[in-house]
Amino acid sequence: METIKNNRFCIVTIVAVSKDFIIGDGNQMLWYLPNDLKRLKSITLGNPLIMGRKTFDSIGKPLPGRANIILTNKRNLKDDIQLEKYFVQNFEDAVIKANDWINKKFKKNEQSTKKIFIFGGGEIYKLALNFCNQIELTLVDINLKKGVYFPFIDKKKWKKKLIQKIEGNESYPPHSFWVYNRK
Ligand SMILES: NC(=O)c1ccc[n+]([C@@H]2O[C@H](COP(=O)([O-])OP(=O)(O)OC[C@H]3O[C@@H](n4cnc5c(N)ncnc54)[C@H](OP(=O)(O)O)[C@@H]3O)[C@@H](O)[C@H]2O)c1
Repeated sequence: METIKNNRFCIVTIVAVSKDFIIGDGNQMLWYLPNDLKRLKSITLGNPLIMGRKTFDSIGKPLPGRANIILTNKRNLKDDIQLEKYFVQNFEDAVIKANDWINKKFKKNEQSTKKIFIFGGGEIYKLALNFCNQIELTLVDINLKKGVYFPFIDKKKWKKKLIQKIEGNESYPPHSFWVYNRK
C-alpha cells in the first residue's frame, strides 16, 4: 500500500455531500443536480474511476469514456473490455488496474494530466481517502439525518477552495463546488 501513496497518477476523490456529510441512502443518491452531473462528467471523462460494487449497481451501467473499476469480494463477476468494466478484489489491485489502463490507452505525452478518481460509495471513500491528494466536493445545501456518511475531513490536513456557487430553484437545492488539496 505504501507505493500507492507515491502513485504516478494523482488519486482524486469526487463526491457530493449534504451539509451533514451524507452521500446517499445506501441505494441511491438523494438529490438530482444537473450542473453537478455536467461537472462530474467533464472532470472524469478520459480517466479511470474506482468504485464499490453497490455504487456500480446503483448507477446500473458502466459510464462511457472512462474505465469503470469495481471493487467486490465476489469472484464470479466478469469483466467487459468493450464497456471498460473491470472487477478487482482489493484497493491495491484497483489502483494497479487504473495505472495500467492509462498506460495502455494513452501515449506518454497525453498521460501527464491523467487522474484516478475515487467514485464512492462510503466504503470505498473510507478505504481510499488516505491515498488521495485532492477532493472534488459538491456541497449540497440540505440536511439529512440518516444515510451513508463521507469520512471525516481533517481541517489540519486539507486546504479547501470555493470554485462556484449555484443558486437553488424549484427543481434542486443550492449547492457549491469545492476543491480540497492536501496540505
Ligand atoms: N454522493 C456521492 O457523491 C456518491 C457517490 C457514490 C456513491 N454514493 C452513494 O453511496 C451509497 C453506497 O455506498 P456503500 O458504502 O453502501 O457501498 P459502496 O462503497 O459503493 O460498495 C460497497 C461494496 O464494495 C465492495 N468492497 C468494499 N470494500 C472492499 C474491499 N476492501 N475489497 C473488495 N471489495 C470491497 C463490496 O462489494 P461486494 O458486496 O460485491 O463484495 C461492498 O459491499 C449509495 O447510496 C450511493 O448512491 C454517493
